[in-house]
Amino acid sequence: MATKRLWHGNIAISEDGFVSKKNQKTELSNNEDWIEVHNIRNNSSAIIIGSNTALIDNPRLLVKERYIQNTKIKQPIRILFDRRGRCPNSLLIFQDQEFYPTIWITNNSSQYDQIKKIEFISFSQVFNDINSYLDTKEDYRPVLIEGGSMLMNSFVNSGFMDMLRVYQSTKKLENGTPLKLNFDKLVLQSEYSLGDGVVRTYKILK
Ligand SMILES: NC(=O)c1ccc[n+]([C@@H]2O[C@H](COP(=O)([O-])OP(=O)(O)OC[C@H]3O[C@@H](n4cnc5c(N)ncnc54)[C@H](OP(=O)(O)O)[C@@H]3O)[C@@H](O)[C@H]2O)c1
Repeated sequence: MATKRLWHGNIAISEDGFVSKKNQKTELSNNEDWIEVHNIRNNSSAIIIGSNTALIDNPRLLVKERYIQNTKIKQPIRILFDRRGRCPNSLLIFQDQEFYPTIWITNNSSQYDQIKKIEFISFSQVFNDINSYLDTKEDYRPVLIEGGSMLMNSFVNSGFMDMLRVYQSTKKLENGTPLKLNFDKLVLQSEYSLGDGVVRTYKILK
């Protein structure tokens, strides 16, 4: 049986509740939020994103040195949820495998050079497979889910996520991809100002 870790989420929203402009990489975090987010990443064994986020934002999904002070950087494993296998191996999340490994959760039969693949049969099997893999690395730190909206809501409903941190910016987008979450499952734990934004943390009911 794999070791159970804390699985938690982090996402930023605009003042009017969008995670991004439609199909567009959109900056919502202020500097204070980026500092907190990169420190959370640096304390995580793995970071997870969904395929739309990989295709639209094309993030490297690494801890950036400029946000970390007086702490050694230990890059988390990167994990991409992409059941249909729409993400090409040219994306940045698949680069630099010799230093920063990526796990591809997919039902695509292709094999990408050096990429570990896990088939998606169910949430519980993937949850267990990821925990088992991290056990082999002796990394018992939390797993961080970074979105987007669809994947985050699936995790909220899955029963496998413990906490969620939401940073709300003062920027208004007026339209775009909304953060659609099952709020019945969220219990507010804390709320604090961060620069000109607000952070809310939630416990997730199982
Ligand atoms: N503000 C922020 O903090 C933040 C963070 C991340 C992303 N974003 C923004 O969010 C937008 C993308 O969000 P999105 O909601 O459209 O997409 P998303 O959540 O990034 O990705 C959705 C895709 O993930 C795949 N997936 C795999 N397993 C899944 C599961 N169990 N449940 C749900 N999806 C699963 C699905 O494709 P398959 O069916 O093929 O698996 C689905 O189409 C981008 O514009 C990005 O810029 C914002």
